[in-house]
Amino acid sequence: MPYQQAVEELKIKFKNMRKEYKCRNEYSPIEFVTGRVKEVSSILEKVKKFNIPMDKIEYELEDIAGIRIMCQFVDDITKVVNIIRKRKDLSIVYEKDYITNAKESGYRSYHIIIRYPVNLSIGCKEIIAEIQIRTLGMNFWATAEHSLNYKYKQHIPSNIKTKLKQAADTAYQLDELMMQIKDEIKDAQRLFGVKSNIVSNINESLVSLISLGKVKESSNYQLQLTTLIEIGDINQLNSLLLSIQRDIDKYKK
Ligand code: GTP
Ligand code: MG
Repeated sequence: MPYQQAVEELKIKFKNMRKEYKCRNEYSPIEFVTGRVKEVSSILEKVKKFNIPMDKIEYELEDIAGIRIMCQFVDDITKVVNIIRKRKDLSIVYEKDYITNAKESGYRSYHIIIRYPVNLSIGCKEIIAEIQIRTLGMNFWATAEHSLNYKYKQHIPSNIKTKLKQAADTAYQLDELMMQIKDEIKDAQRLFGVKSNIVSNINESLVSLISLGKVKESSNYQLQLTTLIEIGDINQLNSLLLSIQRDIDKYKK
């Protein structure tokens, strides 16, 4: 129960952080968040493999609760790490930087092991959880490699291993390349956000216009909106919004 609750809470907290950025029309260093509680069968497997005494599982198995935060660009990872370091609702046990020091397999990610208090009906219980922070590219590679390890029970054939190593290098290069055009991409995404905000404001205004009985005026504006969505820029959309709002004020009077 506490692990399940911790995963649910942490997922909501990091997802809301993304919403917060979007709400301010800012770029979010968090692209998406996933989380899971380790299956009992996997816990038992690991306990056996590392010879962990049953009464020490909660201290020595650090990834029973696991959160994964995906970012678009490598430098977003540092931003997310700094945000986590400042949080008051958790404490950091230690960090592992597999980005500066990639693993032998080619695995790259930033790991933070945390202590997180969960308030239960019987009182507060502190659990340990693992947060993995990685780019979309790192995640793509790690997910594929994990599936192959599962299929081949850690003994991936050497020809596939070679390809995986190449894929890891390519993923690294992709992250580097995307960093070079990140400002361009962020700008485009921000513009898209601003545009869709104006369009939804226009739509809300058109509904107000209809509720004032101005159906013909509203459908006239609707036609203009359709054209502007296709070929217009932000300024034109903005002035359409202003005209509609002026009309609304006029008709209200
Ligand atoms: P575990 O026994 O897996 O917990 O390893 P560890 O205690 O040495 O910690 P480590 O930071 O190496 O790994 C923790 C988690 O990172 C794993 O459970 C995986 O989710 C992920 N991970 C680590 N290495 C690899 C890898 O080579 N490939 C993939 N796909 N994931 C990895
Ligand atoms: Mg571990």
